[in-house]
Amino acid sequence: MATAAPKGVLGRMMMRKSVAQVQEETRTSELKRTLGPWNLVFLGIGCIIGAGIFVRTGNAAALHAGPAVLISYAIAGIVCAFAGLCYAELASTLPVSGSAYTYSYTTIGEFAAWVMGALLLLEYGLAASVVAVGWSGYMVSLLGDIGINIPVELTGPTGHHLMKDGAEVLVNGAPVVFTFNLPAFLVCAALALLLCIGVSESAKFNNAIVAIKVTVLVAFILVGGFIILKDLGSYTQNWDPFIPAPTGKDGEFGWSGILRAASIVFFAYIGFEAVSTAGQEAKNPGKDMPFGIIGSLLACTVIYILVSIVMTLIVPYTSLNVPDPVAVAVDAFGPEWAWFAKTIKIGAIIGLTSVILVLMYGQTRIFYTMARDGLLPRVFATVHQKFRTPWINTLLVGVIVAFAAGFFDINSLGDMTSVGTLAAFAVVCLSVIWLRRTHPDIPRGYRVPLYPIVPAAGILSCLWLITTVPWYVLVIFFWYTLAMVVLYFLYGMRNSELGKGGYGKGEGDFPLFPEDAPLDESGEPTVRP
Ligand code: ALA
Repeated sequence: MATAAPKGVLGRMMMRKSVAQVQEETRTSELKRTLGPWNLVFLGIGCIIGAGIFVRTGNAAALHAGPAVLISYAIAGIVCAFAGLCYAELASTLPVSGSAYTYSYTTIGEFAAWVMGALLLLEYGLAASVVAVGWSGYMVSLLGDIGINIPVELTGPTGHHLMKDGAEVLVNGAPVVFTFNLPAFLVCAALALLLCIGVSESAKFNNAIVAIKVTVLVAFILVGGFIILKDLGSYTQNWDPFIPAPTGKDGEFGWSGILRAASIVFFAYIGFEAVSTAGQEAKNPGKDMPFGIIGSLLACTVIYILVSIVMTLIVPYTSLNVPDPVAVAVDAFGPEWAWFAKTIKIGAIIGLTSVILVLMYGQTRIFYTMARDGLLPRVFATVHQKFRTPWINTLLVGVIVAFAAGFFDINSLGDMTSVGTLAAFAVVCLSVIWLRRTHPDIPRGYRVPLYPIVPAAGILSCLWLITTVPWYVLVIFFWYTLAMVVLYFLYGMRNSELGKGGYGKGEGDFPLFPEDAPLDESGEPTVRP
């Protein structure tokens, strides 16, 4: 069963952690299988709905796709479904908890795991910054409603100018230049401290947050839909044209704009893969995992498309390039709905807070696992004696996320997150093909349909969406990835536990069959077939 790792640098880069070893690491904290299919759907929705729909839809519609942003949502949803099915196969095949990082380590090998770790820093860490900037937009707006005005210079990305309806706002003839996004910085710092003392979300708390987010959006759809239907003729003017004519610049309206907007609203789907991290807690992973992943994706796609329909019908799409587009749309419901705009803002703030928390939590656990594997300095795995949390790692994540949120604008941050996540999804799809070829016979609780079309379509569609982001984001991404690759050879490769001969001695064995699995104290196989 065991296959000896090839020799040389390449062999070293492709050393795989054995599933048995990963299982051994998690054995001591054997988790109860308590999550049913609907719990998994709720878990997914809890991570998915956030700044994407509440904030980035506005920019995508106003500057790139117009009302056709709903086509962008459908495209991004399909791309995620390909990746989602691949996540479901891996989650039901590899009986390990953990993220795409662990999947890469057990399938393609250490180098892929390292690159995945770098991509997940964008998917989790940077995504938390994006959501924090969105949080800031709604918070500043809500505080303004109740007469508390934060100095405007402290509410935006460093060096950017305050804009309104596409034009610079001038005060005494001079533009207003932002110094720092203080609310975004503060919310990240506060949540990092909470994570340090061990506050994370329980399933019940998650369900409550999901209920708030979904209720707010469904109420928006129902009330907005009702108002629109009463006077459909006048509102449909906002859909004329449905696909605005291209301006001639790539990604601005027309079909290239719809694709560009797809890479923006793709952000709104990030988080569904959190369902796969609950593989060990699912009652029936083979069935429940695909149900949870695809179910939460489908539910969010329907919600997103309906919200986009209401938003783009109720106000001209050009007015949506604001930090709180859903609230702007509610303002158009009429003065009698002013209270509802405030309710939306409060709901958004609660929902976004929980998404920041979940994303930061995920990032700290990825760093923690990487440190235990020797790929990051050990200090990242230091656990606080009293709080039992990886506190140094959490503080560092807090600092990175908070400063990114304070300094940078939501569009650049969001595009970097989308690119990193799309690349990570492509690697996950590749892992499915890799594992099918290297280990065709291991038991799989769930198999992607139409193999190899689905994983291949996943890889190609992710790469295709990556090409639609602005070139400067791709340049930054290229240098970031290159720097990480260099760091692997300088640090990761030299310090990895696997390379030092620990962890399965570098043999890529997959003892998924009971007869190959190590036995626990009672003589039972430790790896579930
Ligand atoms: N999908 C999450 C959001 O939209 C990350 O905030």
